[in-house]
Amino acid sequence: MDFTWGVATSAYQIEGAAAEDGRTPSIWDTFSREVVGETGDVACDHYHRMPEDVRLIKKLGVGAYRFSTSWTRVQPNGRGPGNPAGLAFYDRLVDELLANGIEPWLTLYHWDLPQELEDAGGWTARDTAYRFADYSALVFDRLQDRVRNWGTVNEPWCVAYLGYEHGVFAPGRRDPAAAVAATHHLLLAHGLAARLVKTPGNSVSIPLNIGTATPASDDPLDVAAAWRADGNVARIFLDPIRHGRYPADVVEDLAARGHRLPVRPGDMEIIAAPIDMLGVNFYFGQDFAGRDLDGNTVDAAGRPVVREIKPDVPQTDLGWPITPDRFTTLLLRLHRDYGYPLVVTENGAVFEDHPDAGGFVEDTERTAYLAAHIDAVGAARALGADVRGYFAWSLMDNFEWAEGYAKRFGLVHVDYRTQRRTPKRSALWFADRLTSAP
Ligand code: FCB
Repeated sequence: MDFTWGVATSAYQIEGAAAEDGRTPSIWDTFSREVVGETGDVACDHYHRMPEDVRLIKKLGVGAYRFSTSWTRVQPNGRGPGNPAGLAFYDRLVDELLANGIEPWLTLYHWDLPQELEDAGGWTARDTAYRFADYSALVFDRLQDRVRNWGTVNEPWCVAYLGYEHGVFAPGRRDPAAAVAATHHLLLAHGLAARLVKTPGNSVSIPLNIGTATPASDDPLDVAAAWRADGNVARIFLDPIRHGRYPADVVEDLAARGHRLPVRPGDMEIIAAPIDMLGVNFYFGQDFAGRDLDGNTVDAAGRPVVREIKPDVPQTDLGWPITPDRFTTLLLRLHRDYGYPLVVTENGAVFEDHPDAGGFVEDTERTAYLAAHIDAVGAARALGADVRGYFAWSLMDNFEWAEGYAKRFGLVHVDYRTQRRTPKRSALWFADRLTSAP
């Protein structure tokens, strides 16, 4: 079958062992302790249960596993030589996966910036991109003989905007100018890493959360608002990567707010380093209107209104609208506008789970969500989009960032008291679904 089925996780969300074998704190250790109130100190204890978890993945029957390496496990404090114990863990993980016939899909950055680097400016500092390149080289040197699929920076939009502008993710800053600087430095980090890991036979990708910005109506004001929203989330990342330039309208919008992307000569060539695939993380679509609730078309600062409207459809238990049709539209749009082969690097849903006495969860709604979205991938493929894989988020329940442990995305249920893993109905269904491409 010419289609990759997989499940995904990330280091901080599952590993635990936060202070073990030389690992030092990342911004998520700090933020989870200070703001969320629950931490990844133990999480799914994957660091100690890795072989058991690989067996779990094998039982699902998927051919691939997407995980991330923890920067501060590999390179404590974010500078200097590699940490032998940290590198040895990923070495064992990769060997274990390969021994079980599972292809490792490695993501270099899934949000756990070393705290020391944040203290030195974090992603607002240009130097962080070069620190990231050094860290990436440590991972690459160690694993390049066995890992063929390399992802760079997971969802840079979330890092820059949720982390530096809205303050709801680590590092919790509320500074729009910082988010703009972070955007450029994350892209630079991506380009530097993409250059490094791009060797013959390797596949390089960046997993983006692109969403869909649909105009709330045909009204030209709504159409313009949706295009602006698309610029701020999708095109601001996609155009530099594909074409080596930021979209002119986005640059103008930023300038109107007094912001400038800190581009230096040569940066755009680095950012446009060739990649082989675009990773698509999709959860829900959004609508946009160009008028606020009072009918105004500009805000108090005189800027055009861009008002998000939730599509009026059933929602998951995170309040995310369920919009599989938008997923098809998105995949077709990415195929048409950017021409990359696509792989769905994340898709999944939170619903309240009620384990029975044996720990089994009859998660009908999650199963229906996955089925509808896999069908949506099938519809996009039938219409010509080159979608080559689908990774369900997530292998198992885990630390869901600002939501802590209350919200569960897993196909496998985790009892956090006993660390017992029990495949849910969705896992059994998924295993059955894998016999043919969508
Ligand atoms: C994505 C993240 C992933 C997970 C899902 C639900 O934005 O990449 O780690 O938390 O959302």
